[in-house]
Amino acid sequence: MAFPTTRMRRLRSTPALRGLVRETELRADRLVLPLFVSETATTREPVEAMPGVERLPLGDVVAEARAAAGLGLGAVLLFGIPAEKDAEGSGAWDEQGAVQLAVAAIKRELPQLLVMTDVCLCEYTTHGHCGILGEDGRVENDATLERISRIALSHARAGADIVAPSDMMDGRVGAIRSELDSGGFDQTPILAYSAKFASAFYGPFREAAGSTPSAGDRRGYQMDPGNGREAVREALLDVEEGADMLMVKPALAYGDLIHAVKRATRLPLAAYNVSGEYAMVKAAAAAGYLDERATVCEILTSLHRAGADIVISYHAKDAARWLSERS
Ligand code: PBG
Repeated sequence: MAFPTTRMRRLRSTPALRGLVRETELRADRLVLPLFVSETATTREPVEAMPGVERLPLGDVVAEARAAAGLGLGAVLLFGIPAEKDAEGSGAWDEQGAVQLAVAAIKRELPQLLVMTDVCLCEYTTHGHCGILGEDGRVENDATLERISRIALSHARAGADIVAPSDMMDGRVGAIRSELDSGGFDQTPILAYSAKFASAFYGPFREAAGSTPSAGDRRGYQMDPGNGREAVREALLDVEEGADMLMVKPALAYGDLIHAVKRATRLPLAAYNVSGEYAMVKAAAAAGYLDERATVCEILTSLHRAGADIVISYHAKDAARWLSERS
């Protein structure tokens, strides 16, 4: 029965009523905080385009992870910035690499905190691509798989709870699964960056991680922003290859795909609220154009509402505080 019998505003009239019928509530333990661990930083280095985000020296990583744990965050996601790069990105599977040492240090001090690692080559290659280049200058898929698997195994050996490949090569989930299984890590889950788009929203991250390709772009391996059906197909392939969790990235411009992937699969799904999305909110808030707190809570809640079980965000620490105080 419609108006005047039905009045939608009845249930909006007080905070108590609104709380009673709120459909989606994001909890801190669904939030994941990305951390940049640098081999060259001697102090915390601010990332210009991401106010509040810093490249951390190894010695500061545990403190940052402790802050995340103290706020009740679900996990941290580690990215490494090596001192040296080469064409193969061999620093990425170095047992003494920044990520490997950081994982070990965090797990030693904070065994309860989940540690995820980004598995990719782009921060470690001189050319900045996510894979090995062939003679024609293109990223070679199958040669890259071997390296990617080696990185994942080195992270698992260091103690990573979850490995998250972000390279977008075909077959990487299966390759990593078999490498982990034969290395004795059949209990280590894979969070696949399944639908990762070639996006302008990664700009600030590339400044933070020093991973801008020196020539060309990533459109030969990351997805075309116009393609939704293909995103679902990518997700289903990752399920077949043995992924434990899936991801859609970026998040804000891809809410339809968070929803679509969620419906098409039965796996836990993460949405990555990427660097450019963070930078836009921070810039608008600094200019006085937006209320940062309200905007961040609204954005992150919307990703959860769209279907993301897990939300990866540079706002995670602030959001954990704000969400718990919300009226
Ligand atoms: C590495 C990687 C990137 C991001 C996460 N993993 C950069 C890229 O693909 O260029 C982006 C994260 C962000 O923008 O916050 N391949």
